[in-house]
Amino acid sequence: MTIKLGIIGMGVISHYYLKALQQSTVCELRAVCDTSQERLAPFAASPVACHDDYATLLDDPQLDAVIINLPNHLHFDACKAALRAGKHVCCEKPLTLDLQQALQLRDMARRYQLTLLTAFHRRYNHHLLRALEQGRFEGARQVTARYHERIEEHAGRDTWYLDSASCGGGCVADNGPNVYDTLSFALGTLQVQRAEIRRNAMGVDMGAQISLAGPGGLAVSAELSWDYPFGEQKDLLIEYADGSQFIIDMLEGSEGFKTSLYHEYEGVLAHLASSIRGNAEDGTIGIDAVRLVRDTYALEASDGR
Ligand SMILES: NC(=O)c1ccc[n+]([C@@H]2O[C@H](COP(=O)([O-])OP(=O)(O)OC[C@H]3O[C@@H](n4cnc5c(N)ncnc54)[C@H](O)[C@@H]3O)[C@@H](O)[C@H]2O)c1
Repeated sequence: MTIKLGIIGMGVISHYYLKALQQSTVCELRAVCDTSQERLAPFAASPVACHDDYATLLDDPQLDAVIINLPNHLHFDACKAALRAGKHVCCEKPLTLDLQQALQLRDMARRYQLTLLTAFHRRYNHHLLRALEQGRFEGARQVTARYHERIEEHAGRDTWYLDSASCGGGCVADNGPNVYDTLSFALGTLQVQRAEIRRNAMGVDMGAQISLAGPGGLAVSAELSWDYPFGEQKDLLIEYADGSQFIIDMLEGSEGFKTSLYHEYEGVLAHLASSIRGNAEDGTIGIDAVRLVRDTYALEASDGR
């Protein structure tokens, strides 16, 4: 039996899910939802049901699971509604903008015995997985994640990214979860120690330099920017005690902006399917990134900016 999916939010990121669904033999797209008719138009002549309100999509008893691709501030309400409707949930990052809300969703998923998975696509990046297999992080004295892009290139005509209330902040709120989850996935639990955040005239964070402590006091740092003029850089620099280095370039071999996402979202979908079929993810993945983003802004505020 295939897993019947609905997608809520048919914007930029939905493209990667649609491509992954074309490759999938276990998941099948049955419904889509967007408040924009323009974004539903490509499905009008297909058997996929179109909804402009996610409440009606969630009422569809044939759907097993939903993917939530809404602007960040809408994740909590949509996840809550989906879990209440008995659907398994795969939510884009960040799971929520507030830690208590993330914990509440995890509790609901546990109570209802439903999958709640945050889509951290770097967990399925071929280069990262190979480096982990090869033990590249062993013996590291410093690990630096470099996550640079120009937000306009990603967001296109969508403006909510630059509205702090919708995004949860700027590059720390939006790219921070991916970076923090990638580092935690590779290294273990992290604690934020220092955060320098660079803001634009509107007060939106466009760059950040964050120092963290990893397991055993490992020095970890994250460099983020949203105004990078040279395309995209998404890599991990590992420095060893003898002075040597190893770079995991998560974009290596992926020509064009965001093309690495194609294979990564196939991984997201496969993880969602296996979780629904037995190894339930209960929302734990996703929570720690919410904590680390909260701690980053809190630390900056307590340092008096
Ligand atoms: N991991 C990544 O690299 C990555 C990349 C892109 C986006 N994302 C995440 O994916 C999510 C979506 O981002 P995006 O870039 O696709 O945004 P987007 O603005 O392109 O798409 C969002 C869509 O949601 C629709 N929408 C808004 N409110 C709605 C509602 N109440 N009901 C139904 N539809 C509604 C909009 O019309 C729009 O089509 C965000 O949480 C973002 O952080 C992650």
